[in-house]
Order: sequence, then structure tokens, then C-alpha cells
Amino acid sequence: MVIFKKISDLQDYLLKLRATDSRRVGFVPTMGALHAGHISLIGRSKANNDIAVASIFVNPTQFNDRSDFDKYPSSVDMDITMLVEAGCDVLLLPSEQEVYPEGDQKMQSYGFGYLDNILEGAQRPGHFKGVGQVVARLLDIVNPDFVYVGQKDYQQCIVIKNLIGLLRKENEITLMVCPTVREADGLAMSSRNRRLTEPQRAIAGLLYQCLVSIQAKQIDSSFKIVQKECLDLLAEKGFTPEYVSLADAGDLSLLEEYDKSKKMVALVAAKLGDVRLIDNLVIN
Ligand code: PAF
Repeated sequence: MVIFKKISDLQDYLLKLRATDSRRVGFVPTMGALHAGHISLIGRSKANNDIAVASIFVNPTQFNDRSDFDKYPSSVDMDITMLVEAGCDVLLLPSEQEVYPEGDQKMQSYGFGYLDNILEGAQRPGHFKGVGQVVARLLDIVNPDFVYVGQKDYQQCIVIKNLIGLLRKENEITLMVCPTVREADGLAMSSRNRRLTEPQRAIAGLLYQCLVSIQAKQIDSSFKIVQKECLDLLAEKGFTPEYVSLADAGDLSLLEEYDKSKKMVALVAAKLGDVRLIDNLVIN
């Protein structure tokens, strides 16, 4: 695997490769602290492209909470070993100065309409502005044919899809949303999981159980009732729930009730101590 810290070096390298051959580039943007979910994205990228590129950059502009940024796990050496084992060809490991040479304030920013104000947008003001900023920059640098992201960040997937449209790159870049990889108890893999204490980890699978119950109870219950059951159960077990919501799986418009005429997605966010976890399940 070739590792680039300088963006211009990566660009030169990719340009040379692409000049000799029309090589297809798959890209997996990450913030490091890699786990099996990321590695599954690399696997897909590798299988469908000639060159698998990954990036590791903990983007400060997408953290509305400074302490979340400060505590974000980092394990670059281990990440590199995992990427090599997964067959990743190229890693971009840039500094903040490389990504934002003129400071992040000078970067173009993108708005995502109501997505900025619901669910993750509401809980983490400015989060998607930061995601849009860094993903636009990374797409510009790598110029991939395919981008691979995990369904675990469902709203982020829709934001990135919209961003590709706003950048007018929908004919050049295809977004591939890949299934969430789960632990044995259903807990969605996340870099933040490694910050859970043992007792917290022991109950964290409850988030997924809530999603499964939302799915199962659509047959004979009202979403309002199931939503309250989930919020109460999470609080009783020691979570601080932020939302348990139902939305149209296509555009993420929020639903008050089950609507069997639509493909729906159930979404949940809750804190265990100071670790914030999110998950979702497409339910029909
Ligand atoms: O999902 C993530 O890890 C980040 O939000 C991303 C897409 C790499 C942008 O920083």
C-alpha cells in the first residue's frame, strides 16, 4: 500500500496511473479507528475497481462538540495494518493544513435543506456542513469513480448523495451504500464502540433490539406506542435516548406513523455515558 501525506503527491500518482490505463478508482473516506465495517467497504471497493483508495482524516469541522473530537479514537498504526491486510492500494493520510490550507472558514459550504435540521442535523448542529465540506474536498482530490459508505450513517449517506448532485458529479461518481456490519448482539460496528466500558458494552445491543421491535410491531401496533416503549426501555436501562424515529427510507422525510405504502427506515440515537451511538434499520 502506498501512503501519501501530501495531497499533490497522491494526485500525481493517480494521474500517472490513469494516464497509462483507464483505471477505475474506488474510494473509502474514513476517520480512522477502523473496524470490520470499514474493512467490508474496502473489500467492496477492491472487488469492483482497479485501485482501492482510502483516506484517514478526523475532520474537525464536523464535530459540533469539541470534547467528542478530542476523544475520537485514533489507532493509525493498527489502521494501516488492517488496510494492508484488506488489500487497500493507496492511503491518503493528510494533516489538517493539507486538507484546509487556507483554513476551514474559506471552504465552500453546502446546505442540505431539511436534512440539516432533523435527526442528526438537529442533534449535531453544523455536523452536515462539516461533512459536506470535507467530502467535497476529498472527492475533488481523489476524483473516484465509486465512493463506498456504510448504511450505519443513514442520513450521512443521503447527504453525500445530495452533495454529489450539488457538485454536479452525479455522472462521474457513483455512491455505494453498503450494509451495516454488526457485532453478535446486533450492535452496529462503530469506532466509538471502543470507548464503551464493559457494562455499557453489555447493554449496547439494546439499540438494535429497539429497531427490530419497531420492525416487528408494525404489523399490529402503532409507531407512537412502540416509540414510547423504546424510549422508556432505553432510559430505564441507563441510556440517554435522543431520538427513536421513523422516516421515508428514500428522502428521510419523518413519519408520524407506519406507512406500509412506503419503504421506511427506523432510526435511533442514544448516549451511553458520554458515548453517542446511532443505528438504523430499513423495515420493509
Ligand atoms: O463517516 C465518516 O467517517 C465521516 O463522516 C466521513 C464520511 C469520513 C467524513 O469525514
